[in-house]
This record gives sequence, C-alpha cells and structure tokens, in this order.
Amino acid sequence: MSSFNDGAGWDGPAIFVEDVHKSFGKVQALSGIDLVVERGKVLGLLGPNGAGKTTAVKILTTLIKPDRGRALVEGRDVLRSPAAVRDIIGLAGQSAAIQEELTGRENLEIMGRLYHLDPDTRRRRSNELLEQFDLLDAADRPTKGYSGGMQRRLDLALSLVSLPRVLFLDEPTTGLDPRSRLGMWEVIRELVSIGTTLLLTTQYLEEADELADEIVVIDHGKVIAAGTALELKNRVGGDVVQFEVVEKSRIGEAAEAVRSLSESDLATDGESGQVSLRVGKNGSQALVETVRRLDALGIQTEGLAVRRPSLDDVFLSLTGHGAEEPEASSSSSRRRAGKRH
Ligand SMILES: Nc1ncnc2c1ncn2[C@@H]1O[C@H](COP(=O)(O)OP(=O)(O)OP(=O)(O)O)[C@@H](O)[C@H]1O
Ligand SMILES: [Mg+2]
Repeated sequence: MSSFNDGAGWDGPAIFVEDVHKSFGKVQALSGIDLVVERGKVLGLLGPNGAGKTTAVKILTTLIKPDRGRALVEGRDVLRSPAAVRDIIGLAGQSAAIQEELTGRENLEIMGRLYHLDPDTRRRRSNELLEQFDLLDAADRPTKGYSGGMQRRLDLALSLVSLPRVLFLDEPTTGLDPRSRLGMWEVIRELVSIGTTLLLTTQYLEEADELADEIVVIDHGKVIAAGTALELKNRVGGDVVQFEVVEKSRIGEAAEAVRSLSESDLATDGESGQVSLRVGKNGSQALVETVRRLDALGIQTEGLAVRRPSLDDVFLSLTGHGAEEPEASSSSSRRRAGKRH
C-alpha cells in the first residue's frame, strides 16, 4: 500500500495499523498489532486491563510514538506527519482534557481557540455542544464541581469542537451510571450517523456489541480475535446454561456437579453466586440435566436459563478469563488531579 504523508488523495481506510510494537522499559505493551477501520465505521477495541488499548489509542493520536510498524490516520503517517494527523482527529478518554478551575464554556472556548476558530464560530460551537451534551445549566460553573458523568460529557464535547473526521474514545462510559451510559451511546450514534469514523475502546462487551461494526479483541498486546459481534459469537458456538446459587457458599459444589455437562468453559462468580457453562448445541437437554443434578444435592437456584453466547462468553473463551470490571477509581482520580495531556 502506498502512503501519502499528508493524506492528500487518500482513498484507503480511515485507520490503518500494521505490525505496531511498543514497549515501556521491560513491559511490552503492544507486540505487533494490525487494525483496519473503513471510513464511517466503528471499531470496538476490546480487552482487559493492561491489554494495550490506551497504548494503541495514544499511538494513533500521536501522543506517543510506536517503536516499530506503521500507523496511518486518513493516510497521514503518525510518525512522519503528526500535525496533519492531529488536524483531523478528536480524542476523549482516560486522560481528561478538562481544566478544572475553568467553567465548561471556558474549556470549550479555549479548545476552539486552539483550533483557530474565529470568535463567532467558537461561541456558536460551544453553545451547540453545551446543548447537545445537556450541560447548558452548568455551563458557567467551574468544572471541578461537575459530577463524573458531566465531566465525561464535557470531555467528549471538547473532543468534538474541531468537528473531527476520526474520533478516538478511550473507555467513554467507564464509571457512568446506566442512564448516562445510554445517553452517551445516543451521542455516539449521532456522530456515526454524520459519517465520523470511530475507534472506541471498552471493557464493556455489551457496549462493543451495541455500537461497533467490527470488534478487535486484544490481550497482552496482541490481537487474539477480530470480526463482527455475530461472527465472534458464532465462533464460540453453542448455548450457555446459567444460574445463581442461592446459598452462595455452595457455589463450588454446584459447579462440580454440572462441570461434566460443560464442553469447555465454566465460569463462577463467588460474589453474585452466578455459574455459567457452555454446553454445546443441546441447551435444553443440558438445562434439564442441570436441574436434576442440583436438585439431587438440594442446591437451590435462581434465574436458571439457557441462552445464546454473549460477547462475555466469547471473551472468556478467548482469553481464559472474563472481562474484569474497569477500575473506575483510577480514571476518576486522574481526573481529580486535573492532569492534562
Ligand atoms: N507510560 C508507561 N510506562 C510504563 N508502562 C506503561 C506505560 N503505559 C502503559 N504501560 C503498560 O503497558 C501495558 C498496556 O497498558 P495500556 O494502558 O495500554 O492498557 P489498557 O488496555 O488501556 O488497560 P486499561 O483497561 O487498564 O485502561 C500495561 O502493562 C501498562 O502497565
Ligand atoms: Mg486504558
């Protein structure tokens, strides 16, 4: 593939990453990843803590340099033409761009100035974004008094001041309550509907399922699977039987009783008492057998059901572990510290 430094005449994919490596001292954060995102599409980059998601986003947004390999955004090379890349991208994510001592409106205005918008356009754009992100009431208050959800929304608004063609969102909904998360999904869908190309990292499988055209799963700096949500689920195949053990101390006993019904993966969660196992094609027969075995032991369950595999099951089957809960505290403490990049 030939590349043009400034992307002029580029008709290839919006994001193209080839064999990118990055180490921090002895830590190999990325060990040769490839990504392709066509214009106007959404790529969900999925992986557990430390998988390398933020590192990939930082390379594509020119905040750090790759050790090896090639990364192009709209044909612009992150190493050779970082300024040209920055002209057309937006970034919102784990390192917030918000200045705490300033109001929401002031933050937006400053961003507009950074992008050389004239004063009228700046004002209009700030107002539009404040309205779109439901921040008009709080617009003239210092942002250090904003709730986590409001800060997230402002952070995303800031990334949109320049009307970026390619947008990077690093865990946009981590730490948001369910209602705010749905609101954020709505905004993201609107952006996609006007043709924005989006790379979104998340640890929430349902989020990737909901928003992404294509999903790439990374673990330990390597791509371990790629495809649509449906393709990934079909790859895992088979039904899943799940139930909750009422008397949580008996979860181990329950898991042992049904283990032989599972083809490969059996997961337990001591906290919720939840057991889930992949049972292959004959889900209903496995369900009946599960009831019989647990009954024989006098183990009570709730919510016993058979279902199609979810992306969570895909994740478990690919990585050998579930998707850990994101560390909401780490991003919020960084936010409180008001660190800027
Ligand atoms: N500046 C740095 N210095 C040293 N190590 C780093 C640095 N940045 C990242 N790492 C390491 O690189 C690996 C990948 O980190 P990265 O932040 O990309 O993961 P992530 O997938 O974004 O994780 P999370 O879900 O926790 O945000 C981790 O082992 C991390 O500790
Ligand atoms: Mg990260």
